[in-house]
Amino acid sequence: MSRLLKFNIFRYNPADEVSEPHMEEFVLEETDSMTLFIALNRIREEQDPSLQFDFCCRAGICGSCGMVINGRPGLACHTKTKDLSGEITLLPLPVYKLVGDLSVDTGSWFREMYTKTESWIHTTKTFDPTAIEERMDNKQAVDIYELERCVECGCCVAACGTARMREDFIGAAALNRVARFLIDPRDQRTENDYYEIIGNDMGIFGCMGLLACEDVCPKHLPLQNQLGFLRRKMGITSLKKIFKK
Ligand code: SF4
Ligand code: SF4
Ligand code: FES
Repeated sequence: MSRLLKFNIFRYNPADEVSEPHMEEFVLEETDSMTLFIALNRIREEQDPSLQFDFCCRAGICGSCGMVINGRPGLACHTKTKDLSGEITLLPLPVYKLVGDLSVDTGSWFREMYTKTESWIHTTKTFDPTAIEERMDNKQAVDIYELERCVECGCCVAACGTARMREDFIGAAALNRVARFLIDPRDQRTENDYYEIIGNDMGIFGCMGLLACEDVCPKHLPLQNQLGFLRRKMGITSLKKIFKK
């Protein structure tokens, strides 16, 4: 006999003047290999078509289905109900603008952070479409690819104490992105240039280092290593600036 799962789901539609934030209960029979993504779709199809949540790929690739699952940020499509108790509480990710119910606008947040950190290759070279592609050392390419695996789900930022307290903190995902450009030999920015962007409390010096970000990252990015790497680099840059005065 399969379990009857009790879902407590946050409901609120900011676009509806009469809507008030509240929790709503739904009961659903568990099926084999059920994920939260499947459960939410069944609730929407069978019980309440107005339930809002995001998804696209169903495979942990698009990063759209992040939500707080029994108190912990995670991906709905990657979470099996069999790994949870029979009572499941779902809340939208904090930090991001609420669209409605479990749906939040991570896209605008990431666009703003990537603009702030100038998240693109800075080079003075002129692009020549006829030139042969420049080779990159294999190890360097693998190291960059490792950091490029971020799916921008926003879970690391939602779990971050600093991001919850300070809305201008750029968060682990953006710091990971800075580290990705810092190790890219095509990017001609100097450590001083990076210091101007992240050498402050909104950047690496605001990080408390408790690593909730790495704990919840569904792609298991090495965030701890990147935060340590940036803290060392920016710490040394800061000392050089002091002693050059
Ligand atoms: S280690 Fe830093 S970035 Fe990660 S959750 Fe803690 S404060 Fe946030
Ligand atoms: S670093 Fe991990 S948790 Fe953070 S946005 Fe990227 S994939 Fe999601
Ligand atoms: S639906 Fe794409 S990551 Fe979950």
